[in-house]
Amino acid sequence: MCGIVGYVGPRPSQDILLAGLARLEYRGYDSAGVAVIDGDGSLGMRKKAGKLAMLRDSLKDAALPDGNTGIGHTRWATHGGPTDENAHPHLADDDKLALIHNGIIENFASLRDELLADGVSFRSETDTEVAAALLGREYRNNGGDLQGAFRAVVNRLEGAFTLLAMHEEHPGLVVGARRNSPLVIGLGEGENFLGSDVAAFIEHTRKALAIGQDQIVSITPDAVTVTDFAGTPVEAEPFDVSWDAAAAEKGGWSSFMAKEVAEQPEAVANTIRGRIQGDQVIIPELDGLDELFIGINRIIITACGTAAYSALVGKYAIEQWARLPVDVELAHEFRYRDPVIGDDTLVVSISQSGETMDTLMAVKYASERGARTLSICNTQGATIPRESDAVVYTHAGPEVAVASTKAFSAQITALLLLGLHMGRVRGAIEDASVDVAELSALPEKIAKVLESEQEHVTQLAGWMADTRSVLFLGRHVGFPIALEGALKLKEISYIHAEGFAAGELKHGPIALIEPGQPVFVLVPSPRHSALVHSKVVSNIQEIRARGARVIVVAEEGDAAVLPFADEVIRIPLAGAMFEPLLAVVPLQIFAMALATAKGLDVDQPRNLAKSVTVE
Ligand code: F6R
Repeated sequence: MCGIVGYVGPRPSQDILLAGLARLEYRGYDSAGVAVIDGDGSLGMRKKAGKLAMLRDSLKDAALPDGNTGIGHTRWATHGGPTDENAHPHLADDDKLALIHNGIIENFASLRDELLADGVSFRSETDTEVAAALLGREYRNNGGDLQGAFRAVVNRLEGAFTLLAMHEEHPGLVVGARRNSPLVIGLGEGENFLGSDVAAFIEHTRKALAIGQDQIVSITPDAVTVTDFAGTPVEAEPFDVSWDAAAAEKGGWSSFMAKEVAEQPEAVANTIRGRIQGDQVIIPELDGLDELFIGINRIIITACGTAAYSALVGKYAIEQWARLPVDVELAHEFRYRDPVIGDDTLVVSISQSGETMDTLMAVKYASERGARTLSICNTQGATIPRESDAVVYTHAGPEVAVASTKAFSAQITALLLLGLHMGRVRGAIEDASVDVAELSALPEKIAKVLESEQEHVTQLAGWMADTRSVLFLGRHVGFPIALEGALKLKEISYIHAEGFAAGELKHGPIALIEPGQPVFVLVPSPRHSALVHSKVVSNIQEIRARGARVIVVAEEGDAAVLPFADEVIRIPLAGAMFEPLLAVVPLQIFAMALATAKGLDVDQPRNLAKSVTVE
């Protein structure tokens, strides 16, 4: 939610800021703005409602004088609609000071009243302008000490925030702070960067510093200083960024989503790499951390959205291999009740961004109650892994499209690895060789689905472009995939879609079936369980009898589905726990092709932002 970039160095900053914003636009795209301190030491600012392209066009029409110090922002609206006035940066101190913000300042109303009483007037409806005005007033009162004023302001703010600010009286200095909201530092040669995540600066440097909670950073071209909110210097943690800049570019693809769907074999292979030894799964990051898995009696997996659907697949795998009960909890529900957790509980969080506020808060809640915590995350330097006792990274590479695809596959892969690792450590698995072979074969099988079904599914979506509702049914590990198929369709094609456990059909959802209603049915292999397979085939017959248009996803050679299916999408044979990684692919392609057929922007669907850093 909201992308933030800052630059100080010898180069003109505007292009660097705009390129950084382009790579962060997935975080929010309802308005964008930049502020620059030009060569004469005066601050210029431009901001525009709409996507980044609107800002670019405006700068093309009337350029801002450029300079070497700048900040940029791409917004996902919280306080105040997506207008030019509400876009960031916000200015204060006679427009000499600019400030950008990600998050929500919870006490903004009382601060605004205080400032209004002091004669300050506001141009926007945002909480951010309140922070800017507060900083302007503090700066004037303290005699022009930007860092001191900034420290005083962040100590008065409640809520979650990343703030960057600069003042024209201090060219070559950008100050930043974070509380429960992301910010990382990029270290260049004679130049430094700030970004919501490393995508903001990977084009320029792979050297980064992670900043902890409640810390303040000042960057100049030659120095980076990090302190806590009291001003005491702290050591920031260095890391090398493993993503490369090209991975965050669209290349020749029609959309980031198309590229990311196609990258799934690689995302899965990279997530497995280095974690299989012989016929065992050994995750090196968990070396020496066996105590995380011994002496626990339950696991809670917590996440939101697509990540939570990967967790549902993980539940089946971990219960089977590690023989521990696993509950899956939506992070935003988990901490608002009084869950029974303690030091006998392992709380596994899953997050592509590593910044989802609900998930972060669930991890903190679990830690405070003595639970052991492990995160599965795709983003280095992110907050959730830093707040966890251990981390297993997915290596999907940067995911830019708002709808998660390759990160989902990598999350399931990491959960399968975790289940096999845990099962070994707990002595619950005697022989993992078959499962390890299944894991290793996954990338090739996913590639096969991509190759064999792309055209067929795209054609199917084209025929269904006018469809108003699609249902998805699955059983066992097919159920989370039904949920994911429905979510993908909803979020990018704006079509009503629901995923159901096939067994629930007769308990209500079958009432939705009318002639012509499209229903995707994920059919589990009969080789895994003839009984479960036959139950799903019965479900197909039931909906078919009521006129549904049945689209079946079934393994190659499963002939039992043929008499009842209008369309059959084939996936290669795989073990029960591995099938979801194959079955999800046609559903992703379907959602993408349908949205494209409707002329929609698949990468930036309306109302959504990729990284949900507010509650
Ligand atoms: C859907 C989607 C979201 C995210 C969810 C969690 O396509 O991308 O549902 O899965 O917002 O995000 P992360 O994984 O970053 O915590």
